[in-house]
Amino acid sequence: MSASKPDLQKTLDDVKNLIDTAKPLLEKVTTLEENETLRVQFLGRKSKLTDILRTLKEFSDEDRVIIGSEANKIKTQLSEMVENNSVRLLKIKHNRISDKEKIDVTLPVYEPQIGHIHPVTQMQWKTEDIFQKMGFDIVYPYEIDDDYHNFTAVNLPEGHPARDNWDTFWTEDGQIAITHTSSMQNRILKEFKPPIRVIVPGRCFRHEATDARHEHTFTQVEGVYVDKNVTLNNMLATLKTFFSEFYEKEVEVKFTPDFFPFVEPGGMMSLTCILCDGKGCNVCKNTGWLEILGCGMIHPNVLKMGGIDSDVYSGFAWGFGLERLVMLKYNIEDIRHFYSGKFDFLKQF
Ligand code: PHE
Repeated sequence: MSASKPDLQKTLDDVKNLIDTAKPLLEKVTTLEENETLRVQFLGRKSKLTDILRTLKEFSDEDRVIIGSEANKIKTQLSEMVENNSVRLLKIKHNRISDKEKIDVTLPVYEPQIGHIHPVTQMQWKTEDIFQKMGFDIVYPYEIDDDYHNFTAVNLPEGHPARDNWDTFWTEDGQIAITHTSSMQNRILKEFKPPIRVIVPGRCFRHEATDARHEHTFTQVEGVYVDKNVTLNNMLATLKTFFSEFYEKEVEVKFTPDFFPFVEPGGMMSLTCILCDGKGCNVCKNTGWLEILGCGMIHPNVLKMGGIDSDVYSGFAWGFGLERLVMLKYNIEDIRHFYSGKFDFLKQF
């Protein structure tokens, strides 16, 4: 074998060496200048690869095909690496990605968990919307309030035995975590002029054992309506309209007398069972009705303490638990789910 006779194996080894040398260098490139230097070195007119391609004519037809195809394969690979580097480095240069970022297109797609509004908040907004359309203003309660507003001003003076009906959290300095949104009645009566139409959505607190129907923290929506010649029927019509909108179907309401010191007459309002449409089911205990809220005509003492002449004006008030309404809307069996922080539960709404 003469020295000048081109050697197939040696040339193929040269080609392989070329890629083995170039690849690690191209993988480590951090600047566009470096990338260009390597391009010239491995792919330029004076590169080893060009030299090899120039010797092709000295080989037999058969060998030429073998070397030619190997050399071209490597040329393509190196060109792609140079091209990818320059795209990546240009992006970094123009601040499009950080230089730490390497994109692995084979990684599974990261799907962010998108948060959403709590179901009780959603329904509070819906409630506010409906009452606003009916002409009500919205007032939010103080979560911590005083004895006067939570009790005395709603006809529950100190020592009144009915105070025990509201299991109360007291602060060390004698303030109250409000037990009901009726805590705002006195302020509303004093600050608004008749006709008064206000709702009070807000968090209330009860120092009592929890079960499927009771939570220590819950949301109440108080309603206060005062004008001349207001009757119990006006109240039932207002609430019937609200509940039909809230449940998006026609519901019936009825009033059953009951005692609350701040209303006279006072009572419970029931609603045709949302789950069975009044036919009777285990939630309504086959009665077709659900007792849903306390309400009544505002007691003259409460009007007086609010600076309203009870000989001229009358009014009604109610208070309902929003969680209870949401439970019926979505057939949720336990009130404690709402504030359990269970994502699987909350995600459904
Ligand atoms: N404040 C009462 C409660 O929490 C509900 C209520 C409000 C009843 C207004 C009558 C009138 O139980």
